[in-house]
Amino acid sequence: MKKIMIMGNWKMNLIADEVDELLSGLKSYPVKAGILAGAAPSYTWLLKGQEQFAETNWQLAAQNVYVKEKGAYTGEVSAPMLKSLGCNYTLVGHSERRQIFQETEEAIREKIAILLAHEIKPILCLGETEEERNSGRAEEVVARQLREGLAALPKGTKLFPIAYEPVWAIGTGKHCDPQTAADMMVFIRQELAQAQQQFDLSELLLLYGGSVNGKNFQGYLETDQIDGALVGGASLKAEDFIAIIKVAEDFLHE
Ligand code: 13P
Repeated sequence: MKKIMIMGNWKMNLIADEVDELLSGLKSYPVKAGILAGAAPSYTWLLKGQEQFAETNWQLAAQNVYVKEKGAYTGEVSAPMLKSLGCNYTLVGHSERRQIFQETEEAIREKIAILLAHEIKPILCLGETEEERNSGRAEEVVARQLREGLAALPKGTKLFPIAYEPVWAIGTGKHCDPQTAADMMVFIRQELAQAQQQFDLSELLLLYGGSVNGKNFQGYLETDQIDGALVGGASLKAEDFIAIIKVAEDFLHE
């Protein structure tokens, strides 16, 4: 049975004491069967995450990775380092990295490759800007990001989580209406099913991200097209994040 994933992207937030408080709040909540719940703290806090999540079902994710194994790349963090910190997921292609750090499709492909080589699952993020949606290009943009991001993968690759995060819904409180998000998921599934590489979609999870909270998440699950959420703001307080997880648990038991 497919699981529901709820992943918290902490972005560049929280200092040491706040991290301790959040991690202890999260780990005191036992993640139930059927739910994949996790957090993506800054690199600085991954070791704390590893320690706190040890012997729990909480998943640890990184927000980024560098494309080389090791060497003279001052300031960067490698996939083997993430693996040794117990990370089993890493975000790739988040719109903030594409826009603010000019991350290219080539870099995204390289990051996916190095993560898979180290048995870390990428969470590939895609999504159109407001201007692209308003000009009727949302599907075109998402299809291109999907095609480009996955272009170097060999035939039959088992796909990892993919997060549809419309840029206009991120951090704005203007969440995308569930039906619009569900339509995009249907489109993404179609594109993947038609891809030349004949991907293995058995573990594909399609996540929605953009102003998700404990009040609106149920609407996404009810579309039956959405396998989880990538959560920013509402992942920074344990009670807010756990409220989203509880929505998923209730949905599974309905
Ligand atoms: P918000 O939930 O704060 O809108 O952020 C979404 C996001 O960018 C998660 O990666």
